[in-house]
Amino acid sequence: MKILGISAHYHDSAAALVVDGVPVCAVQEERLSRRKNDASFPAGAAEWCLDHAGLDSGDLDAVVFYERSMLKFERILTCALRAFPRSWRSFPTAIKNTLGEKVWVRGIISSQLGVPREKIFFTDHHASHAAAAFLASPSRRAAILTADGVGEWATLTSGQGARRPGGATEIALPRELRFPHSLGMLYSTFTAFLGFAVNEDEYKVMGLAAYGRPTMLDRMQKVLRRTPDGAFALAPDYFEFQTTASRSYSSKFIDLFGPPRDPYDPIDLESADGRRFADCAASLQRVLEDVLVDIARALHREIGLPDLCFGGGVALNGVANARLLAESGFERVFVPPAPGDAGCALGAALYADRIYFGNPDRDCPDHPFWGPSVDGADLAKAAREDGQPVEELDDGALIERVADELAAGRIVGWMEGACEFGPRALGHRSIFAAPHARETRDRLNRHIKYREEFRPFAPIVPIDAADRYFDLPPGGARLGRFMSGVFPVRPEWRSRLAAITHVDGSARVQALERGMAPRVHALLEAYGRRTGVPVLLNTSFNVAGEPIVTRALEGYSTFRRCGIDVLVAGPTLVMKRAVAPAAASKEDVAWLSEGVAESGGA
Ligand SMILES: [Fe+2]
Repeated sequence: MKILGISAHYHDSAAALVVDGVPVCAVQEERLSRRKNDASFPAGAAEWCLDHAGLDSGDLDAVVFYERSMLKFERILTCALRAFPRSWRSFPTAIKNTLGEKVWVRGIISSQLGVPREKIFFTDHHASHAAAAFLASPSRRAAILTADGVGEWATLTSGQGARRPGGATEIALPRELRFPHSLGMLYSTFTAFLGFAVNEDEYKVMGLAAYGRPTMLDRMQKVLRRTPDGAFALAPDYFEFQTTASRSYSSKFIDLFGPPRDPYDPIDLESADGRRFADCAASLQRVLEDVLVDIARALHREIGLPDLCFGGGVALNGVANARLLAESGFERVFVPPAPGDAGCALGAALYADRIYFGNPDRDCPDHPFWGPSVDGADLAKAAREDGQPVEELDDGALIERVADELAAGRIVGWMEGACEFGPRALGHRSIFAAPHARETRDRLNRHIKYREEFRPFAPIVPIDAADRYFDLPPGGARLGRFMSGVFPVRPEWRSRLAAITHVDGSARVQALERGMAPRVHALLEAYGRRTGVPVLLNTSFNVAGEPIVTRALEGYSTFRRCGIDVLVAGPTLVMKRAVAPAAASKEDVAWLSEGVAESGGA
């Protein structure tokens, strides 16, 4: 069976194709449209998936949308009615902002893709998250936990799944927490309060938390109350997201936590306000972790299996994931590379295949590389046309050369193979740099990523060497496979790995298995032979405000606009023309005076 999964119309839309029970390809719309967090119908992504597999939309057996739009409509309508008459002004905006064309999804899919309406199916939003987490994991039986902002009504679900090789699949999520009681909405509310972009900058809140202390737990208890069943309830007085799309927190929230941060004001951690914001983030982070650990612990007691599959946008919180592993009783925690809504495209397709159509279980390849491939020849052509020197090297020579450049302190844009599905660069669309000096981090922040200085960079390390530098608990390497856990850098290495060590001594480690990205693994080893430390700084290949690069041309354009020194795509290497500083200044002066002379003579 050929099944196309679609997620769209909230943020970060995507398409994924499953053929005969196995993922074939998947891509977020933003990677093709070049609009960050593109939420529009993923026509480009769907078309690319079909092209990539050599299919026509007429070949599809089913198209599956990742949630039930009518239920979502019902939630928004119900919430608006409950808040009436307070909500009557904001209701049309809420409908427009939140729903847009969502209600009419079947018609949109049918007309956009040319698929008959009877081939279009819908899954529950959290069933899609659960399927993305469980069916793509190597685990055969596992507890399942999902948590996000909101789907139709559910914001958190728990249960279990079972896969029988070649046989039937079961996913049961008997427990759910419903809107407005939502960990994702709580986190997003603070994201807005702290002056960051909602649904995009939540990870900045996590980064900021490390600079603060959880001094506001008593206040947090007022907005989030623990319930006797081990879950929680949000106190509605402090929030407005349930009734309006224009503001997520209420005046009472401001009375409790103080004035919100102006997004244009930099965070000054020396000031009282800066410390208040950092303490807010730390308190929020602590509460999120505590609630998740308690819920997971209860799930472990109930289900008694060693594996937990965790999905939904909240599973992007690597600090919380590490605590789940350490404290919930589960021996392994599986987080997919795309736990958020984009990953639901793949989850919905897999769910339909196994559950709706009852197709036999198949193992899914355990990697994140499902998107368009990069072509070194495209890079060579673009660079030559631009007058830049191009080198084409065989694999061994290329890796040694790049390791030399990294060891010399140069920053490398590295593109190879298919791009990652999900928000993280895991070695195919990465910027690599030496991890040792804090100056490298500052240089990346100022000249390449153009971003806040409190945000840490992540390390990548061969899985076998990870323990030497990072304090990974049992099961930690699995979380590190897709960079889903934050773990301590071993104290003796912190000063020597200063560019990737966060202020609290932690790092979001990617523990790389050779088979997942062999050339990157070889590069780490080559770098290790030169420096004694097979660790690199690994950050996504993009500048602030842009999606991660997909094709060679986007990589080249980014390379030309920022401080990356070396660009690699497949076998092709391009190096920015290096000019010795002294000679450069002389030449500049000579060129300038010629220019002055010419203009003076004209
Ligand atoms: Fe979601």
